[in-house]
Amino acid sequence: MKFFTATLLLSGVLAYYVYLPLPNTICEPWKLMILDAVFRSFMHVGNLAHDLGLGHPIRIINYMMLKVEVIGPQSSQTVQVTDTFFAGVPVRVFEPATPVEQQHHLRRAVVYFHGGGWALLSGRMRSYDLLCRNMVEEMDAVIVSVDYSLAPDAHFPQQYFDALNASTFFLSPEVLAQYSVDPERVAISGDSAGGNLAAAVVQQMVSENKTSTKFKLQALIYPVLQALDFNTPSYQQNGDTPILYRPMMARFWLEYLNASPSLVPLLLANNHTALDLARLPQAVRARVDWTRLVSPDFQKEYRRVSPARGSAGVLEELPALLDARAAPLLAEEEVLRAAPPTYIMTCEHDVLRDDGLMYARRLEDAGVAVTRDHYEDGFHACMVFSFWPAKFSVGTRSMWNYIRWLNKHL
Ligand SMILES: *[C@@H]1O[C@H](CO)[C@@H](O)[C@H](O)[C@H]1NC(C)=O
Ligand SMILES: *[C@@H]1O[C@H](CO)[C@@H](O)[C@H](O)[C@H]1NC(C)=O
Ligand SMILES: *[C@@H]1O[C@H](CO)[C@@H](O)[C@H](O)[C@H]1NC(C)=O
Repeated sequence: MKFFTATLLLSGVLAYYVYLPLPNTICEPWKLMILDAVFRSFMHVGNLAHDLGLGHPIRIINYMMLKVEVIGPQSSQTVQVTDTFFAGVPVRVFEPATPVEQQHHLRRAVVYFHGGGWALLSGRMRSYDLLCRNMVEEMDAVIVSVDYSLAPDAHFPQQYFDALNASTFFLSPEVLAQYSVDPERVAISGDSAGGNLAAAVVQQMVSENKTSTKFKLQALIYPVLQALDFNTPSYQQNGDTPILYRPMMARFWLEYLNASPSLVPLLLANNHTALDLARLPQAVRARVDWTRLVSPDFQKEYRRVSPARGSAGVLEELPALLDARAAPLLAEEEVLRAAPPTYIMTCEHDVLRDDGLMYARRLEDAGVAVTRDHYEDGFHACMVFSFWPAKFSVGTRSMWNYIRWLNKHL
């Protein structure tokens, strides 16, 4: 009887911890609740360890996640996997195991940046490893998964330079030849913070305008692209939706820009972009103006949040908030105009949905061919949840649509 009561109590506590009211349009809500509870428990342990003086909470969380999820470079019959360095940056290269017939063709390639708020995860984790293997098998292509440096050990612009340096290194004629890759058929891609890095690298390369370093395509998966408005309709609508909560995204930005986490409430109030800030020119505001850049179907009943008075010091202290290398949505139109054809995936239940929608619109306005792929039942990071034990139907669907798009257009 005691055992029964204890079990009942424990299940009650567990259900309370796991249960979360979720919109019924989201994919497999129960599974998502469990996944989210796992993440939250990692966060709790990280914070607890931090309180015990064991170090920075994000470093501890990442250590635990990588401990569980990173796998070695295991080649299979179809895919040859190698860990190496490009320009000093660790990368994992996935190649088809069958030798290329030089006379017949060179291979295509994709440079990929994993997500994780510039602070977490690795391209050597099981989920990203499996994603890259699927890409190799489906496309007979070479995939380079880049392990750029992470916060809190590194801050902007280090992550960005790692991404740029590894990309530039790979695109050099000698390295492409070594991997039998066709210089005309290389794409750049990434999800979440990795989509941010991919977009920033493309902008830098088109600005340099060297023919020797050109990507044929960019494919951005629910990218994070701006930190000027934390009250876009998607931020307002999905602030409490797992697995990327609104304060968490603001925190990741502050870690990336090496600023104090105490600024989270200020950012969430849009105080850094209040109307009285002369520092923020109209031209820059227009680049994140969702009332113009996001279609009314997505805007729904949401209202713009722009306080009449704000905190002027923040933009001075954190000039990177206005730097397009950190926030690619802020790029000038001349830069966007030179971008290659673009694929942008967005999810309805994601605070970053409107970052992606605004970038798609700005690229289209600049004359770039954009393929939009929107998932009504999608949530942030769903594409990497397409493998057991965290396998969601929207994860599998979005992953294969992404790979098929690359296969068709690259
Ligand atoms: C990137 O590469 C350049 C040229 O090789 C080098 O000078 C620079 O230090 C690298 N940047 C970083 C942040 O590693
Ligand atoms: C890039 O260079 C080419 C020729 O080298 C030139 O025709 C083109 O206008 C340049 N584009 C930009 C954006 O500077
Ligand atoms: C936002 O700015 C206003 C006016 O300066 C200030 O009163 C308020 O406390 C600020 N809010 C946050 C969360 O920093």
